[in-house]
Amino acid sequence: MLKPFWIWLDHFCENLEATPLSQAIQTIVWVIPTVQIIHIVGIAAVMGSAFMLNARVAGLVDRDEDAGSVARRFLPVIWWTLPVLLATGAVMIIGEPGRALKNPVFHAKVALILVAMAHLWFCQRRLLAGTANAAAVVLPSIVLWLGIVFCGRWIAYF
Ligand code: HEM
Repeated sequence: MLKPFWIWLDHFCENLEATPLSQAIQTIVWVIPTVQIIHIVGIAAVMGSAFMLNARVAGLVDRDEDAGSVARRFLPVIWWTLPVLLATGAVMIIGEPGRALKNPVFHAKVALILVAMAHLWFCQRRLLAGTANAAAVVLPSIVLWLGIVFCGRWIAYF
């Protein structure tokens, strides 16, 4: 059942790698370093915002500011940066498809991103109202975002 999928994925990666777009990404020397820089700045924005949001929910920072207003400041940064990470990640994948698409660590990263987004979406209303429960928000959020960063870096070594 799974074997035909892996064979299909092999062909898909080979075909994608042979497209003019992939060839351009592979041969124009500034493309990969540029998208990597944008991806890493995006990671800093998401992680910095998630950290500040969680630290406020845990009551560690900005205690004189309403928790809802802290959420209003940092939630848009996370939501608007995710498409940037998706776009830059897609360029890296098109440039070298097999490296990510055939890598189980990348599959784990995508699964964690989907769970982190669902968790954030689920908690969002209470975060904005300033009534979020620290136990339900902080630990899952930190574990998920750190797991995503860990998988992102680990792709290169697996
Ligand atoms: C939204 C969709 C995303 C896609 C499609 C994507 C895809 C990728 C790809 C293809 C790489 C290159 C891996 C390699 O070849 O070594 C990468 C690197 C990385 N990604 Fe993402 N990514 C996404 C989102 C994120 C998010 C949300 C985070 C964390 C907040 C993240 C963290 C990382 C890290 C830490 C690296 C390693 C950077 C480096 O050391 O050069 N990514 N990503």
